[in-house]
Amino acid sequence: MRLIVAPILASLIMSPVTALSKTSPPKAFTKCAKCHGAVGHGGTRTAPDLATTKMTFKQFKTQVRHGSGWKGRPPKNPRYRWKKMPAQIGVDDTDLEKIYSFIKSR
Ligand code: HEC
Repeated sequence: MRLIVAPILASLIMSPVTALSKTSPPKAFTKCAKCHGAVGHGGTRTAPDLATTKMTFKQFKTQVRHGSGWKGRPPKNPRYRWKKMPAQIGVDDTDLEKIYSFIKSR
């Protein structure tokens, strides 16, 4: 039993480390990571995967500045329909550019 469990445990522990070493998230991403996970691959039922977002940079900016529910937004990921994202403050345009290229690089 131990022989089977050990490699599974090892891969569970190792995977976030490998994911992070690809490119480390910009500092401003710390805010987003709370809900969207360390590298934006989605929190456990807290917020969707950002790597697969279909939002353009302009839409992305609106989402972050206004939170969920702005006019003209593309359809939400249905898995997260019942949760709302609050508007994020303290992220400037430069932060948003860094975050957007970071999530798109995942
Ligand atoms: C309090 C938790 C929370 C925080 C903090 C948060 N989000 Fe979200 N976010 C959500 C939830 C929940 C959704 C799903 C609802 C929705 O799509 O409006 C979401 C959706 C999104 C979407 C839309 C994805 C899509 O394709 O529909 C983007 C883009 C996004 N977040 C970016 C960010 C960024 C960038 C930050 C940091 C500046 C951030 N979020 C911080 C909870 C959060």
